[in-house]
Amino acid sequence: MMAGIWAVIPAAGRGTRFGGEVPKQYLRVGGQLLLEHTLAALFAHDAVLGAVLAISANDPDWPGWTSFAGRPLLTCTGGATRAESVLAGLNALPDDVRADDFVLVHDAARPNLALADLAQLLERGRNDPVGAILAAPVRDTLKRAGDDGGIDGTEPRERLWRAFTPQLFRRLHLQRALEGAAGAGIEVTDEAMAMERQGLRPLLIEGAEDNFKITTPADLARFEFVLAQRGR
Ligand code: CTP
Ligand code: MG
Repeated sequence: MMAGIWAVIPAAGRGTRFGGEVPKQYLRVGGQLLLEHTLAALFAHDAVLGAVLAISANDPDWPGWTSFAGRPLLTCTGGATRAESVLAGLNALPDDVRADDFVLVHDAARPNLALADLAQLLERGRNDPVGAILAAPVRDTLKRAGDDGGIDGTEPRERLWRAFTPQLFRRLHLQRALEGAAGAGIEVTDEAMAMERQGLRPLLIEGAEDNFKITTPADLARFEFVLAQRGR
């Protein structure tokens, strides 16, 4: 029996790149909110005990759920950046989540997480002293652009990975790392980056490439396609 784990879900973004009135996490797709698909993917694993969602202050679109899949959903007010929202979520975790317990951080806008990848992250990540993230190797050839839009050169991609979520770190350790970055005025774009700043080396765990984040309407169309395929 695997030890239980809590999740923090940053869901306080406004989706400026996506556009539109309603933030992307609250768009209806396949008969459910995008956020519901994300929660379902996460709670598909029995070890997930509950989640804290960081949402916008007075969020008019938040449906007010207090549980999901029979497990508790807590909310807190997110911040101006993703990192601030994650920090708020960590602070709002229940007291029985201990300082050295691992927690998952997963984007509300990343609905296509595979259960097998989550299981891998939990099994292998919790054996790492620091923690781990799901990621996939870069497949495209990478070009460095000059100011005029011309190509200055080709960058080696051999050791480059795309960072996904969930990311798995210890509660207090992650909190300190995020506070450290904020104190130094550095906006970290994922949890691993905050740990790296401390000279630590989280483990990369290769996951499916289709654990994509909904950033633009084209990504939502891709997810609709995925849902249609699943239906068969
Ligand atoms: N997020 C958050 N608080 C913020 C900014 C982002 O909780 N201040 C969350 C988003 O809701 C999303 C995740 O972090 O689930 C990943 O961020 P991103 O894809 O950038 O979403 P948005 O910030 O909403 O989109 P954009 O950057 O286009 O405005
Ligand atoms: Mg953003």
